[in-house]
Amino acid sequence: MKVTIFGTGYVGLVTGACLAEMGNHVVCVDIDEDKVSRLNRGEIPIFEPGLEPIVRRNHANGQLQFTTEAASAIAHAQIIFIAVGTPPDEDGSADLQYVLAVARDIGRHLDRYTVIVNKSTVPVGTADRVLKAAADELAARGANIAFDVVSNPEFLKEGDAVEDCLRPDRIVIGSSSERAVEWLRKLYAPFNRNHDRTVVMDVRSAELTKYAANAMLATKISFMNEIANIAERVGADVELVRQGIGADPRIGYHFIYPGAGYGGSCFPKDVQALERTARSVGYQARLLDAVEAVNYDQKSKLFEFIQRHFGGNISGRTVALWGLAFKPNTDDMREASSRRLIEALWEAGAKVRAYDPEAREETQRIYGQRDDLVLCDNAYQALEGADALAIVTEWKAFRSPDFARIRDLLKEPVIFDGRNLYEPRAVEDAGLAYYGIGRGRSV
Ligand code: UGA
Repeated sequence: MKVTIFGTGYVGLVTGACLAEMGNHVVCVDIDEDKVSRLNRGEIPIFEPGLEPIVRRNHANGQLQFTTEAASAIAHAQIIFIAVGTPPDEDGSADLQYVLAVARDIGRHLDRYTVIVNKSTVPVGTADRVLKAAADELAARGANIAFDVVSNPEFLKEGDAVEDCLRPDRIVIGSSSERAVEWLRKLYAPFNRNHDRTVVMDVRSAELTKYAANAMLATKISFMNEIANIAERVGADVELVRQGIGADPRIGYHFIYPGAGYGGSCFPKDVQALERTARSVGYQARLLDAVEAVNYDQKSKLFEFIQRHFGGNISGRTVALWGLAFKPNTDDMREASSRRLIEALWEAGAKVRAYDPEAREETQRIYGQRDDLVLCDNAYQALEGADALAIVTEWKAFRSPDFARIRDLLKEPVIFDGRNLYEPRAVEDAGLAYYGIGRGRSV
């Protein structure tokens, strides 16, 4: 089919590449000229495993094109995806200006029946606003062209985005138009081979499904972080508790890892946006408020451990960080726990040496050149001259380190493990002090 995608961020680029891979002719539109020319030169602006070969292959064979020209891209399409950003507004609700600008553009150029698909995470009711924005433009030019607006949220995880896109666990289609649903079923048929993963529903339910999924996952994490905080105070080990409860299939082992808080471009933003939506219709979502509050405090955990360990004064100390990205397999630093820690350390007069396998450039871009931040080439280099080590992101490369080497390099051999990568006994046996999240000994 002929597909146009507005927005070449994580969602748009991955979706575009995967749809092209399945034989569709895909045009990706972005207003960022520099990004479009980089993509046309075969440069992928994000680190996402498996994405580069798919983009390059399909770009080379003409199945995947990149442009800044909205009009021709709209004329090309049977199906248009809107996958532009929805950054949080000042009050935490999703800012729809980019989504609605695309909708107006579509209305200005539409020349035949087209299915418009909201792929961005947008509040309930946005499909209606997109419909109105496009319809107003059509009316303004006296055009009478039918179109449908569908909600088709994405459930991609950064770091696994290509895999999630090629092998989705569900495909949610929110629309009451039979024609639109039929077209999307056809588009997704190759992703749906062994059994039908399509869940068709009304548009508002589809919009809410996306928020409900992310809010549920965020709730699991905050719940476990709360249990970890209790475990610390009662002398229990949350890692054992995690295994004990995960064995119940109604709870499950997934997404119950306590840690230094969840980050990224989705959970923090989506939990807040859902709270705002609830409030806007007169409902106070107490559980969501708590999920967010627990996560906020959790991001300060490592700093509190460090402060306490050093007797409340860390001025002049240097702390080594392993991991900067908000999670492994990405270079994304949005809402990363590392940022809260780094900024708190600076505030308290400490310096930071850090290593992350992918997020070095992004960190440099955010913080620029400064004396109190040294970005290192490898994990052990970050320990040179440092007092202590904090683990912030659970990259595989950090899982089995040489504890004796860490001990010898650190001035005060201590590990603050924000992702519970290590067994406290193994670290302590190697002659280092150890703090984990919810591991009974840290409070
Ligand atoms: C999340 C969802 O998992 C996707 O299903 C969804 O499509 C996506 O948001 C989105 O809305 O676009 P993502 O933000 O890429 O995906 O990251 P996750 O893998 O979900 O991790 C989020 C954060 O939770 C990370 O900071 C991670 O360290 C933390 N986390 C995760 C925990 O602290 N504990 C866990 O048990 C799991």
